[in-house]
Amino acid sequence: MSYRILSKRQLAYKMKLFEVEAPDVASKARPGQFIIVISREGRERVPLTICDYSAERGTVSFAFHEVGKSTKELGTFEEGDRLLSVTGPLGNASVIARFGKVLCVGGSIMTAPLLLQVKALKAAGNQVTTVMGCRTEEFLFMREEAEAISDEVYVASDDGSVGEKGLDFLNELVSGGHYSRCVAMGPVVMMKAVSEITRPFNIPTIVSLTPVMIDGMGMCGVCRVTVGGRMMYGCLDGPEFDGHQTDFEELIKRQRVMLPEERLSSLLWEKSGGCKCEKG
Ligand code: FES
Repeated sequence: MSYRILSKRQLAYKMKLFEVEAPDVASKARPGQFIIVISREGRERVPLTICDYSAERGTVSFAFHEVGKSTKELGTFEEGDRLLSVTGPLGNASVIARFGKVLCVGGSIMTAPLLLQVKALKAAGNQVTTVMGCRTEEFLFMREEAEAISDEVYVASDDGSVGEKGLDFLNELVSGGHYSRCVAMGPVVMMKAVSEITRPFNIPTIVSLTPVMIDGMGMCGVCRVTVGGRMMYGCLDGPEFDGHQTDFEELIKRQRVMLPEERLSSLLWEKSGGCKCEKG
């Protein structure tokens, strides 16, 4: 099976979007699902949320932020290179229905897959407000795409270099917005903040969780999350959960467990010169 990279797009500093040949995945993919990518023999399994797909073309797109060894190495792959495997689609698809007015909040690299949901929610007859969150102006991407598919778009940055400063403005937006649903995809702290903002207004809020994963198929148990006091598997029961029921603190702690090892392996890989020599 060929998983050739058809296009590689630089979204922002260390953020990339790949479109790859993966007809088996593309024929079944739905918004909200994820794939597991292995770049080459012996490399880690990297779970990535699907950003787009075309059953006709047999392609699937995914975006990633080069933060660890695996994603940094993935970033060295170029158009025409082949990945060892692309497994999926995994996890449950998003619930797409006619809700009315929907608030979609994306943060960092997860804004890319959020736009797939925006597109699907619009197609289902919803009025969609999209919020694009980024660290600074340099990390803002796909704004034109968002504007083309949303009813309105807001931009927010951590330092205020573009759009609103922080997410506080959401309080006002939500209080007068008559939203019937909210979807948040981004860093855990951001999804937690959005869930707290929508809670007093009883707006059902869906968050896409990205716990540490290994197999992505319910076998290893690494992706455990607590939702509504019950233990769930991010890969099998999710990746989308009720943000008002999610134990974000536990998730943040679990995500930090492997950080020292990840940093070390990323450092060693960089010191070795970031080997690209064995790509297929
Ligand atoms: Fe192994 Fe979910 S990733 S059980």
